Amino acid sequence: MAVTISIANEKGGVGKTTTAVNLAAGLAMRLRADGRGDRRILLVDIDPQGHALLSTAYGRHTAEAGESLAALLTETPPPSVQRMIRQSVHHPNLYIIPGNRAAMSRAARLLPSLIANESRLQRALAPVQPLFEYIIIDTPPNIGDLLVNALVAATHVLIPVETSYLGVSGLRELQQTIQSVCFHLRPDLQILGYLPTLCDEQRSETHEILAELQNRYGGQVFDPIHKATDLAYAHSSHMDVFTYRPARQRDQLASSSRATQEYAALVETILQITGQPA
Ligand SMILES: Nc1ncnc2c1ncn2[C@@H]1O[C@H](COP(=O)(O)OP(=O)(O)OP(=O)(O)O)[C@@H](O)[C@H]1O
Ligand SMILES: [Mg+2]
Repeated sequence: MAVTISIANEKGGVGKTTTAVNLAAGLAMRLRADGRGDRRILLVDIDPQGHALLSTAYGRHTAEAGESLAALLTETPPPSVQRMIRQSVHHPNLYIIPGNRAAMSRAARLLPSLIANESRLQRALAPVQPLFEYIIIDTPPNIGDLLVNALVAATHVLIPVETSYLGVSGLRELQQTIQSVCFHLRPDLQILGYLPTLCDEQRSETHEILAELQNRYGGQVFDPIHKATDLAYAHSSHMDVFTYRPARQRDQLASSSRATQEYAALVETILQITGQPA
């Protein structure tokens, strides 16, 4: 069964999508470099904004409402998930489920009135679980039924935290939601870790904030991802950073760019923690 990681934080603009896209691409490349290109990764974008899909499968990321992720969440019976899955444009072993922005916004409004609404994504993904090594889920910047679906479908949650005072102080509601999901619906859901993002060492408070994160979450804090123009440029070029700044040697993930090195290190750490073949 796939290790399923939801990338979540109710605060907007903290690097959820950047992390989802680069983690999914990094895992796909790492397995290929290891001669395991038959091991596949699925990126699921449950955010109606659809930004993760844009970076991964530009031009192939949208579908008719009835053939998109929204239909899997709202229709009874849902359409076949196997038929929907498409390949990324950058990596042969990275796949997506196409989205439809308007249909997903409608789905978010409709979900509260639907039966068994919190576990619809989990059930929708069940038939394809055995086909993938990892499923990475990008989530919207609010606490609602879409986020709850992403948590119920997951084995792990990764929480990107903006390296700022507001970033560190705004995690309470998310933690309460995770606790409720664990208690009522998914007792085996684990917090994979906290990822400091948009880290700027020129700012005087950065070290204090990183120390505060260590103090609160100890060994659950990943090495930080620094602010890097490569990440923003890759995003606006509809690419993951490994495609945007490729390594010289085919079997290597990281190039000379700091952003590729930091996301490659995150990929290695996650492979180790989750115990998947590396
Ligand atoms: N480490 C970084 N360095 C520089 N720019 C970054 C970094 N991480 C993210 N960005 C940029 O910051 C913006 C917000 O990032 P991203 O879209 O990943 O956040 P998000 O949490 O998914 O936002 P939302 O809550 O709206 O979904 C994007 O333009 C992205 O390119
Ligand atoms: Mg996002």
